Amino acid sequence: MQVNLSQPRPLPDRTATDLGGPHPAGRVGMVSGGTPQALRLHPIAPDAPVPVYRPYLASEVQDAARGALEAGWLGMGKLTRNFEEALEAYLGLDGRHVVSANSCTEAIHIAARLIGLKPGDEVICPSFTYVAGHQAISRTGADVVFCDVEDRHLSIDPDRVAELITDRTRAILAVDYLGLPCRLEEIMAIARAHGLRVIEDAAHAFGSHGASGRVGSFGDITCFSFGPVKTITTLEGGAVVTPNAGDVQVLHELRHLGIDADTDARYRNQRNWEFDVVRQGYRCHLGSVPAAIGLAQMALVDEFIANRQQYCRFYDEAFRDLDGVQLFETDWEGVAPYIYVIRVSANVRADLIEHLKRLGIATGIHFLGAHGFSFYKDCRRGDLSVTDRVTQQVLTLPLHPYMDESTLARVADGVRSFFTGSAAVPAARINAG
Ligand SMILES: Cc1ncc(COP(=O)(O)O)c(C=O)c1O
Repeated sequence: MQVNLSQPRPLPDRTATDLGGPHPAGRVGMVSGGTPQALRLHPIAPDAPVPVYRPYLASEVQDAARGALEAGWLGMGKLTRNFEEALEAYLGLDGRHVVSANSCTEAIHIAARLIGLKPGDEVICPSFTYVAGHQAISRTGADVVFCDVEDRHLSIDPDRVAELITDRTRAILAVDYLGLPCRLEEIMAIARAHGLRVIEDAAHAFGSHGASGRVGSFGDITCFSFGPVKTITTLEGGAVVTPNAGDVQVLHELRHLGIDADTDARYRNQRNWEFDVVRQGYRCHLGSVPAAIGLAQMALVDEFIANRQQYCRFYDEAFRDLDGVQLFETDWEGVAPYIYVIRVSANVRADLIEHLKRLGIATGIHFLGAHGFSFYKDCRRGDLSVTDRVTQQVLTLPLHPYMDESTLARVADGVRSFFTGSAAVPAARINAG
């Protein structure tokens, strides 16, 4: 297949390494609007398996973790606050506040507690999402009520949300599928009209822009994930963004055992031995080592996102003429893609997965409809036909923060050869747009 190559250019100030050590070929260039970019991970050998995910944990990330370990303050501390401040600055939060957590699941859980969800309440959620959000809601005793997704970007369908509102409804969980922002403005309008809260599960969308700005900088409550394979990772981690200064203290208490007066001290790497316990809390704070890793990842986040956009455009161009493949309607501008998903017809998906597996290319399925799970079998209230259809169609292809052209071509050729019997990608090239 043809790709537009250019000569690699050495990195001026950073050494490219993979998980193991220095790697001279780590400077292979990728074309981005004619500008070569550093490839900071080992390229994947032509006969090696291509994983769906490949987190970036190279030297600067390891150095940051080592520094935090050597400092010896392992729990929540200065670095935790530094990471939260880095998130606030990056997201351009104007008067909004970040409270970190040890996962997005826990971030959604404390957000759910913050808004007072309790048994008897209902929360309208897409069935088509990861069960983490449902679990965080149902843990409060509130009932999950499944809503269908819209066909275009597979986020909760605002036109269907209104039909599901009852006098028990308290909140809506909206998910930014694969990094594509949901129709939050419409969801917020519905919520305002009915006095509901909105938790945006932006686990996939750190760095994405919606119509009103960067995800997290508008709306009600937003939760991010920094899990092992997310756009940036703290190994495990997450954060809540709230517009209300008064929520911060409550979130601190919820995050740390209901303790009222310890966070400020911990943010100075100290402990406050005089405190009260003022509510039922949980233990889901972010420690210093994950925060240090997060800070190192934040230094590269723009590069991670630009690369991911570029790889998505490459795939789009490679698949655009394939009859059997449906692409998402987006040019990826302003989107921080967490995964790259295609839609194929249900009766070929298993064969395509097998075909790619034989070529050493791993795939994933995001997501199964949660209304099919035993625990949530009674949570369906109405039509879920888009969910039922797309759960049979979606297929996740490899997307990493750094990919070289031969890995991208392997994946693209693998998919193409399944549909056409021929691997060549006409005029496929990296197009930074
Ligand atoms: C849509 C969605 N929400 C929430 C989560 C949970 O994130 P975490 O693993 O940080 O708890 C995930 C994890 O992948 C997810 O895909």
